[in-house]
Amino acid sequence: MLKGKTVLLGITGSIAAYKIAYLASALHKLHADVHVLMTENATNFINPITFETLTGNKCLVDTFDRNFQFQVEHVSIAKKADVVMIAPASANVIGKIANGLADDMLTTTVMACRCQKLFAPAMNTAMYENPIVQDNIRKLKHYGYEVITPASGYLACGDTGAGKMPEPETLLEYILREVAFEKDLSGKKVLVTAGPTQEAIDPVRCLTNHSSGKMGYAIAKMAMLRGAEVTLVSGPTAIEPPLFVKVLPVTSARDMFEAVTGVSDQQDIIIKAAAVADYRPKQVSEDKVKKNDDQASIELERTDDILKYLGQHKKDGQFLCGFSMETKNMIGNSRAKLEKKNLDMVAANNLKVEGAGFQGDTNVLTLITQDEEVSLPLMSKEDAALKILDKIISLTK
Ligand SMILES: Cc1cc2nc3c(=O)[nH]c(=O)nc-3n(C[C@H](O)[C@H](O)[C@H](O)COP(=O)(O)O)c2cc1C
Repeated sequence: MLKGKTVLLGITGSIAAYKIAYLASALHKLHADVHVLMTENATNFINPITFETLTGNKCLVDTFDRNFQFQVEHVSIAKKADVVMIAPASANVIGKIANGLADDMLTTTVMACRCQKLFAPAMNTAMYENPIVQDNIRKLKHYGYEVITPASGYLACGDTGAGKMPEPETLLEYILREVAFEKDLSGKKVLVTAGPTQEAIDPVRCLTNHSSGKMGYAIAKMAMLRGAEVTLVSGPTAIEPPLFVKVLPVTSARDMFEAVTGVSDQQDIIIKAAAVADYRPKQVSEDKVKKNDDQASIELERTDDILKYLGQHKKDGQFLCGFSMETKNMIGNSRAKLEKKNLDMVAANNLKVEGAGFQGDTNVLTLITQDEEVSLPLMSKEDAALKILDKIISLTK
């Protein structure tokens, strides 16, 4: 995902420094060229050898160390960088960079970088809330540097409050958003629906289906990483929503219809990956439910057909993609759906094929448009999401 990208990690004198070993390793596994810069004080918390082993690159600490690969190391490395993240960022380094001081390898290199700079402050709550530190953070933001709001929680000093560095998994997402993929959906608004809906029978029971939400969440994440402004309307799922995506949680088909139609007019691309329950119990009085409890027979009615509604109200230039899950006659049924609901594409999967459909981490899709049918092999849902987006981009150019 990060082949050909150079990521600089700047580490300062904070107890959270050890967490960056995971981040350096994760970036290296994604094929980024990772260079770690440490302040002298940071080397008291974690040894540079750890990073040299994890990244395969020399860890840079001393500006005047002559045992370097390049002539003027801080300038060469700054020129190569696609993104730089200072994490953990001490109050001291934040203050130095905000005020133009460059007295060590880390601060000098950051000063020489033209790429985006991300800061993850980590410090004791009183330090973080100190008005001078807050002024310095404001100054960094003023100059276009992104400062990641620290989490609140139990801190290494024993206090509880703001100042905790976000977990390295979260920091990785910030880096990916910056440098993963070409931003070929930049300026586009994308709406994705995901997960099942739940139709209440009574306060305890519901009608639902086996959708995990994984396919829709993967599409939302990949569209965001490719630069789109993404809204994810999600039924109840057990998965973490992707960062940097606006999530509208819903429960029933009616909720989903309202959430989707509330924003659908503003969207360039709509991808309906949710498995909306087709039926809901007809509303009956609570009294009747109680009376019938021992021999409950539930009368059903159809839920709203959200995709059909979107097809009927499609804006000029809007691209509408639906999913179809079939057990037989996949192409014929999906083509009929494409026509009947005025869709631009159907991503079809045959539930009888190994590795396709709900729950799992893989899918086997056929992308059906007016003019063609493209059968994709078995792949991860994230790769399938990228293929769906590739196709949409090629058709909307
Ligand atoms: C155990 C320990 C933990 C520390 N944790 C932090 C911290 O999380 N954030 C911070 O700003 N300073 C922290 N400090 C203080 C910094 O290490 C100190 O301000 C140092 O001068 C920072 O140097 P640097 O910014 O060049 O890395 C800590 C100090 C010690 C001894």
